[in-house]
Amino acid sequence: MAALGCLALALTACIENAPLDSLDAKGPFAERINGLFWPVFWVATIIFVLVEGAILVAAIVFRDRPGRAEPRQLHGSSRLEVLWTAIPTLILAGIAFPTVSAVFDLTKCGGDAMPVEIIGHQWWFEYRYPQADVVTANVLVIPAGKEICASMTSEDVLHNFWVPNLNGKRYLVPGQTTTLRLQAYEPGEYWGHCAEFCGLSHSLMRARVQAVPAAEFEAWIEAQQQPAPVPAEGTAAAVGLAVFQARACTQCHSIAGTNDVENPFGPNLTHFASRHVFAGATLPEQGEEWSDALKRWIANPPEVKPGSYMPDLGLTEQEIEDVIAYLETLQ
Ligand code: CUA
Repeated sequence: MAALGCLALALTACIENAPLDSLDAKGPFAERINGLFWPVFWVATIIFVLVEGAILVAAIVFRDRPGRAEPRQLHGSSRLEVLWTAIPTLILAGIAFPTVSAVFDLTKCGGDAMPVEIIGHQWWFEYRYPQADVVTANVLVIPAGKEICASMTSEDVLHNFWVPNLNGKRYLVPGQTTTLRLQAYEPGEYWGHCAEFCGLSHSLMRARVQAVPAAEFEAWIEAQQQPAPVPAEGTAAAVGLAVFQARACTQCHSIAGTNDVENPFGPNLTHFASRHVFAGATLPEQGEEWSDALKRWIANPPEVKPGSYMPDLGLTEQEIEDVIAYLETLQ
């Protein structure tokens, strides 16, 4: 029963269109990994079948039966020993060379790759576009078909950036820079997850990569470079901005042109509403309205994301609604 239970659990990984499917390559770097995985998998499968088959045959054909004489006793065979040492050595060497060369290729960027910076925080990913002076969070927007060279580091503890459709896992290490190549063949949304236990809400540290056509990417960059609009007086958004300024929000969240913070602790909110997910790309949940999720989040962040450094500020329901009205203008 325990074995069947484990098998059922393992089979749940075979769900159709799973968002974190590492066997579903959507770009050249993930494909390179799959190109290593499948030959190794089949070689291992053949060896497994041969070895297990030989064990079964030996156990059944040569089993003890009444009246059987004692079989001839052997003490090893040098020829066989050499053979079954040499064959695995050749197989392992055949696997090792392409593997080691892939490990280096997957992290050494091409000359015309577009640089981005990925910074890990407890518990969200920050993205910077140094050539365009754009800072965003949770959703990494990239041009489809173009190589991205990600320079990665962490503000606090070890994290690991993993978007299985596009490449393997790579650590984000405080005080160090690691490099990862990313590329999507086609426009689309690719899910990611922090792949290193990094504290209480590690399981809620997700990522999205959104690949868009090149022209759309240029337009997106241009829009992201604009400062945030200042709401007209008398609107709900203006009241929301006043709430934002009166409470501690201003300490941690930069909003270009409105609230510039040096080394902000939280995500940059200048174009918050242009991102379809927030709170470490965990909200809104499936089927939940964006504004409902936002209400839930602002009302009590640590309840949604245990350990969240965004505190419960004790806003009234009205204040929350005003803040949301303001955030919605940050397109
Ligand atoms: Cu960051 Cu796990």
